[in-house]
This record gives sequence, structure tokens and C-alpha cells, in this order.
Amino acid sequence: MTHPRTGRPRERVLTMRGIGKRFGAVKALTDVDFWVNEGEVVALVGDNGAGKSTLVKVLAGVHPPDAGTIEFDGEPVGIGSPADAQELGIETIFQDLALCDNLDVVANLWLGRELRDGATLDEVDMEQRTWTLLRELSAKIPSVRVPVASLSGGQRQTVAIARSLIGEPRVVILDEPTAALGVAQTAEVLNLIERLRERGHGVILISHNMADVMAVADRVVVLRLGRNNGVYNVADVTSEILIAAITGAVDHSGMRRPDRADAAPQLARDSDPPGPGPADIREATIDREPADEEPVSDETAGGTVIRLPRGGARRTTRPRGGGAR
Ligand SMILES: Nc1ncnc2c1ncn2[C@@H]1O[C@H](COP(=O)(O)OP(=O)(O)OP(=O)(O)O)[C@@H](O)[C@H]1O
Ligand SMILES: [Mg+2]
Repeated sequence: MTHPRTGRPRERVLTMRGIGKRFGAVKALTDVDFWVNEGEVVALVGDNGAGKSTLVKVLAGVHPPDAGTIEFDGEPVGIGSPADAQELGIETIFQDLALCDNLDVVANLWLGRELRDGATLDEVDMEQRTWTLLRELSAKIPSVRVPVASLSGGQRQTVAIARSLIGEPRVVILDEPTAALGVAQTAEVLNLIERLRERGHGVILISHNMADVMAVADRVVVLRLGRNNGVYNVADVTSEILIAAITGAVDHSGMRRPDRADAAPQLARDSDPPGPGPADIREATIDREPADEEPVSDETAGGTVIRLPRGGARRTTRPRGGGAR
């Protein structure tokens, strides 16, 4: 197993198999497989209500799953609470960022984990380590002693990401990190995601923006109506194919059926996990008409928000050779 963009070998960090989650009558997740390797950016995409946030909340310990298994470093684990997730090394940056606006950058980074020198806070050490971390991330923050309220959206996202790295997590989850950002700030956050990959973190990126996904992800996992609907290496896929999988114009949900082994060539291969489970995703096909399932909820049936690549979806057909950039 090698890194599609850098050629480095990498290890599996996390594997979810057959994950199910219900909220009353709503089946938010059904039999979902998902995995992430170290030094890999996995984009999790899908229409509104597809189950993306629910899946990462299972990892974050917010929603215990009703079905399925989770392995961390090859060992079965239960993630019953956010503290369990943090202990394993899974950090989630939710869309609201949960920063304290009136506190400065250093205070936000170390909140609840302050370094002490005897009875007093070791402000010098915390500030130095903050700068070290921000430099490592090539972050553009002019001062770490200003309240985060005065920072731009991209800088605030940077602070939230830097804060998540204090405990050296193995997996970093970002829920729509660029949703509220302009072009330059989005580029900054995408750079930051590349730094996370270089540092060896497994990164899970939820995004509706196909341009961002194509720019930064190694692999893309599509959810539709709470089920897997395809896993693709970015090197082998186009925005159009992803959008077709997201909207259901292409149906990969029958992927476990052995009689459907005429696999579509663009589906992920070199990242497939060993053994049963997600490897079966290779058996997906694209020869069916759009799925005709019932939506899992009214929300799913509602408005579709899929941001097309900048310049229009139809235009983006560039082939990606071997993952080189
Ligand atoms: N706490 C909850 N209680 C009840 N239903 C919920 C809860 N959280 C999610 N759901 C339902 O589960 C389904 C999946 O929701 P989820 O938030 O995971 O979707 P999503 O893919 O993150 O969508 P979006 O792109 O809009 O953020 C939806 O039908 C949603 O209404
Ligand atoms: Mg969501």
C-alpha cells in the first residue's frame, strides 16, 4: 500500500465496518464501510442528509453506532464518548470551530491542557510551542497574542486545526472547513490539510465542494441515503463521476453482491483494506439506472446543495495520471 501522491508506504489507522445508526424511524447510516490510513486525506462526500456528519460523530464518540465494528490500529475498539475518541487520538473540528473569541490564539490552543510551571501557567512555553506548531503548518497568523475574534475566517480555521494537533492525534476530522471561506482563505486551509498529511495524520474531510476535494484528497468516499455509494482514488476520477455518485445517477449501493464483479475501473483499489468488508467495494458497478430508493428522511428528499467545481462541472474532465501533481 503506497501513498498515491507521495509514494510513501502508509499504515491503516482506522477501519469501520457495517456501521448502522438510527434516530428513531430515521436510518441515518446503513451498513457503512469506511477506512483511513496514516498520511492520507479521505474526502467524505454526499448530498444533504446523506449521513456524513453522523458517520464522523460515530468516530467522535458523539453517537454510539447501533451496528458494526470499529478497529483502531487493527484492534477492535468502542468509542462511547468524546473522551474515548480523544484518548484514541481522533480529533474533530466541527463547523462552528468552538473557539473562545475573547481569548488569544495561545489561550485557545491550550485551553483545558495548559502547561504549568509550578502553580502558574507557563505562558512562555505555551507561546513558543504555539509558534513552532504554526510554523510547521506554514500558517499565516501575524500574532498569537490577539483575540481570535480579530482573525479572518481562514485564520480561525487554522487556530482550530492547530488546537486539534496539541495532543498529536492520529486522525483529524474536518467538517466543511472551507464552507464559509473566500478563495484565498480556502487555499490557505487546503495547504494546511496538506501539512496535516505530511505530518502523517489520517485526515477525514467532509466537503460539498468538488474543487476542494479534487485539489486535496487522495481518496473519496461517497455516501448516499446513509449507505456507501462508491470509493474512488482521486487520481482516477472526475468531478462529474463524483457528482453522479452523490446524486444517485450512478448507483454503487449494490456493491456487495458477488454477481456484480465487473468493477468500474475508477473505483479505489490500492487503498482497499485487506480481508472482508470494505474491499468488497471493488465489486461495485455503474451499469444501473438511477436508484429509486425511498429517501431516509424528508431532509434527504429536500433541496440538493452540491457546489460544482469552479468554472462549471462540465468543464472539469482532466485525467489524473498516477496521482502525480
Ligand atoms: N441527532 C439527530 N436526531 C435525529 N435525526 C438525525 C440526527 N442527526 C442526524 N439525523 C438525521 O440523519 C440523517 C443524516 O444526517 P447527517 O447530518 O449525518 O447528514 P449530512 O450528510 O451530514 O448532511 P449535511 O450535508 O446536510 O450536513 C438525516 O436524515 C438527519 O435528519
Ligand atoms: Mg453534515
